Amino acid sequence: MQQHQGSIGIFDSGYGGLTILKEIVHLLPQYNYLYLGDNARSPYGTRSYETVYQYTLQAVNWFFKQGCSLVILACNTASAKALRTIQQNDLPKMGGLHHRVLGVIRPTSEIIGSFTQTGNVGLFATSGTVQSQSYVIEIKKFFPYIQVFQEACPMWVPLIENNEFDNAGADYFIQKHVNQLMAQNSRIDTILLGCTHYPLLKDRIQKYVPANTTILAQGTIVAHSLQNYLQRHPEIAHKCTQESTTHYYTTDNPIEFNQKASIFFGNSIISQSAQLT
Ligand code: DGL
Repeated sequence: MQQHQGSIGIFDSGYGGLTILKEIVHLLPQYNYLYLGDNARSPYGTRSYETVYQYTLQAVNWFFKQGCSLVILACNTASAKALRTIQQNDLPKMGGLHHRVLGVIRPTSEIIGSFTQTGNVGLFATSGTVQSQSYVIEIKKFFPYIQVFQEACPMWVPLIENNEFDNAGADYFIQKHVNQLMAQNSRIDTILLGCTHYPLLKDRIQKYVPANTTILAQGTIVAHSLQNYLQRHPEIAHKCTQESTTHYYTTDNPIEFNQKASIFFGNSIISQSAQLT
């Protein structure tokens, strides 16, 4: 029996996926979870398709070796640049009948139409997610009338990963990108935080947008989508162990991970070291 048999895997390049995990555990506390942050190689947001794909595939393999049947890429960049290839090309070779990999872009795109009144949606995301056009393409499938205005924010993840997001320096970069996004269309009424790190900036972003703007973080959306998925797929749900445990792994220094992770997660965290290659 593998060490984490039946755990649901939650993956991010670093700490951001913890904002998703937190909401999933809140909604579905009965399951076992295994979190992996590839902190040693984060950020992914400025890396090439091939690199993000290779790193993500290594992570998915690691989860399967630990005994997970279901893995959520709680990272928009990995969802944008690696998910489709892994689902279509790699999973069939890896015993695809028994394993599933899901992302965060589709569940968010499916529901965005219920938030906007004007049909003008802003997206803050990493350069990789913006370049991929994944949100523009996915949202069009569900809501053809919605216009998506994208703004890449390459400084935001490094500020967050280095715990430098709560000061005037961070405000400079937040205001700059808010202004650049709103300059694209003044009728944007909903802004999607399309990077799992960004919920930490939500209050600071709110200060610079018009008061009636909805700022949408993905955590609860992804959690409800997972709940729905497990109801629709009992064959996968049956493989998910229900002992209410969560284990954390990082590819970098666990002590540093424990210190920073609590900022994202709220509670203290004890992590272990993972080798992906
Ligand atoms: N948190 C990840 C996302 O949702 C990316 C952060 C990074 O650049 O590594 O896109």
